[in-house]
Amino acid sequence: MAVSVKDNIFSLETRNTLYQMKADEFGVLYHLWYGAKTGCSMDYLLDYPDVGFSGNPYDAGNRRNYSLDTLPLEYAGSGAGDFRIPAISVTHGDGSTALDLRFREYRLTKGKYSIPGLPAVYAGEDEAETLEIVLKDKASDVEVILKYGILEEADVITRSAVVTNKGSDAVVLNRVHSLCMDIPGGDWEWVHFHGRHNMERQAERMPLIHGIQESGSGRGTSSHQQNPGVLLCEKSCGENTGFCMGAVLMYSGGFQAQAEKDQLDQVRFVMGIHPGSFSWTLAPGESFYTPEAVLSCSGEGMAVLSQRFHHVIRNHVCRGKYKLGPRPVLINNWEATYFHFDQQKILDIARQASELGIDMMVLDDGWFGERDTDCSGLGDWFVNENKLQGGLQNLIAQVNGMGMKFGLWFEPEAVSEESRLYREHPEWAIRIPGRKPVRGRYQLLLDLSNPEVVDYLYHVLSKILGENHIEYVKWDMNRSFCDWYSAVLPRERQGEAPHRYILGLYGLLERLTRDFPEILFEGCSGGGGRFDAGMLYYCPQIWCSDDTDAHERTFIQYGTSFFYPVSAVGSHVSAVPNHQTGRSASLKTRGIVAMAGSFGYELDLNCLTDGEKEEVSRQVREYKEYQELIYDGKYYRLSNPFEDGMSAWSWVSEDRSRVLVHGVVFRAVPNSLRRRLKLSGLDKQAKYKVSDSGEVYTGAALMEGGILLPWLHGDDAAFELYLTR
Ligand code: DGJ
Repeated sequence: MAVSVKDNIFSLETRNTLYQMKADEFGVLYHLWYGAKTGCSMDYLLDYPDVGFSGNPYDAGNRRNYSLDTLPLEYAGSGAGDFRIPAISVTHGDGSTALDLRFREYRLTKGKYSIPGLPAVYAGEDEAETLEIVLKDKASDVEVILKYGILEEADVITRSAVVTNKGSDAVVLNRVHSLCMDIPGGDWEWVHFHGRHNMERQAERMPLIHGIQESGSGRGTSSHQQNPGVLLCEKSCGENTGFCMGAVLMYSGGFQAQAEKDQLDQVRFVMGIHPGSFSWTLAPGESFYTPEAVLSCSGEGMAVLSQRFHHVIRNHVCRGKYKLGPRPVLINNWEATYFHFDQQKILDIARQASELGIDMMVLDDGWFGERDTDCSGLGDWFVNENKLQGGLQNLIAQVNGMGMKFGLWFEPEAVSEESRLYREHPEWAIRIPGRKPVRGRYQLLLDLSNPEVVDYLYHVLSKILGENHIEYVKWDMNRSFCDWYSAVLPRERQGEAPHRYILGLYGLLERLTRDFPEILFEGCSGGGGRFDAGMLYYCPQIWCSDDTDAHERTFIQYGTSFFYPVSAVGSHVSAVPNHQTGRSASLKTRGIVAMAGSFGYELDLNCLTDGEKEEVSRQVREYKEYQELIYDGKYYRLSNPFEDGMSAWSWVSEDRSRVLVHGVVFRAVPNSLRRRLKLSGLDKQAKYKVSDSGEVYTGAALMEGGILLPWLHGDDAAFELYLTR
């Protein structure tokens, strides 16, 4: 059993980690430990300092040193003597806001819990256990059930909470986090992934200062600007040594992750739905389910931590036909044509692609309605006959005739004011009555908290997917949310609109992915603006960024790799000069960088020279040859592009017999020594042969001394090494 309970101490053990809690004599639930297995109760670390202005709960009598403000809590209430950030805050029927949660009981079951309406880690009956800890407010009838999924072999703990109003008055939830824990002392460093459109998931690491450090999004999406994945590391933690823990929220809406270093240098960590755009009214008898936070930790540095997340996301989050197997190499017409294409143009691109071994033609934005620019047409999901004479069926038949699959772009959640849909249903767009809405890329968003809108989208999309041989869908979404208001919600429930939108979106994706299990869904939000584990539950890959510049991509893919597996990363070779940056990386470099993902092309192949076409066809063959290693191998970051002047990464097969090393050196330096790169994850005792040179080195030498990289010419020069044992 992964979970043992003794004297109200709960020990959740995975293969390499221990998560421990304790309910004390007052029913206060402590967080004792998350880290290496210790073989004992960690409650000996508890201390009870008498700290001025940290008050005492009434039931502790005259124990001045017993304070909720100093104890390490597992799920902090609010307004009851703990002044740190709360996990939950509510407004009771009488307007008061205190919530003092105490332990009631626990339940242990086999298998992993699921969450109604929300994506969650799944596992077989024998792969996981579920622990439920029931807490209740001392004075009201608010009950909180903390749920823990323990995936023993995967070294993963999941958390979520269910809040139930068991009283007779409505209760308003102002914040309900999925995860809260107080981490004992230590000089923690916070690693988060910030950015913007075209520049997502830039890794940043900094020591925690006293006060609150936050990553979050109030944009209604998990966002380009911050990603719902953060790490806490010990100062000494690097890629291959030291302790770190990480958490990702399986949620695609606004989120908040906060770490507070308190007056005693203890750290509280919380994560969940962003409270800034959230409130939820619980009528008597109603329950609220939080999204799930997925946790892991490693005593062997960040590489192992990332590999655990890659494993759990591939095996216990992604679903469907394409969850583990190879994905088609695709050609997408967006950067080749933007809105300016007709059937002939698309067929020309497809024909050239098929000759070079590419598997699938993806038709991007502009095929529908009056969509000749981004000012109009969204919402009108019927074919634009001016561009595609003969319709989709005719086009698809011809593409299929070339031996290629066909994929299609949609942006189902948005609507242009210049569209038939908007003229017929202006009330379906999100906007506040009496205010002009903010537009993003000229468009508005449809109110997916309205079941009628969700049903409409389901029927329109099902019809197109049912009537045409479409084998891939790119699900795009191109703006941030504001003007929150839902015509179907009463005044007192307007704060529920953002979360109800996400529930509507997930419901729609669930129905479509269930009805069309053969279709590969790729998520997208202006590139990687909704790159999160929630979307990965429905779409096993996500377009990583609209920035296809190989140099920039190495930074974006570096940040993405901390939590998300390579198979989840949509990554394409595009034309030079690059459309986003004007840089001109070689075709080799663009190929090497795009291979660290679900590979494809996004340019007009007809514009390439014969030599370049040969190189494309070689790249496609190479990717197919290595795809299994790239997807199933253990991924290692071999450099930090922000510090090392280069980006290097590798995949090592499970049995450590095959190693593929890829990288890009950013700047050519004259009269210099060759660069030395230390490898990771090899068998120290074994001998490895470098395939091009035939040289043989021990695993220990390659990891301790490194390997000399070949001479490289020019900026952003890529290299590839393949080693076998
Ligand atoms: C944003 C996406 O990220 C691009 O790849 C492309 O699909 C455009 N939208 C189309 O409008």
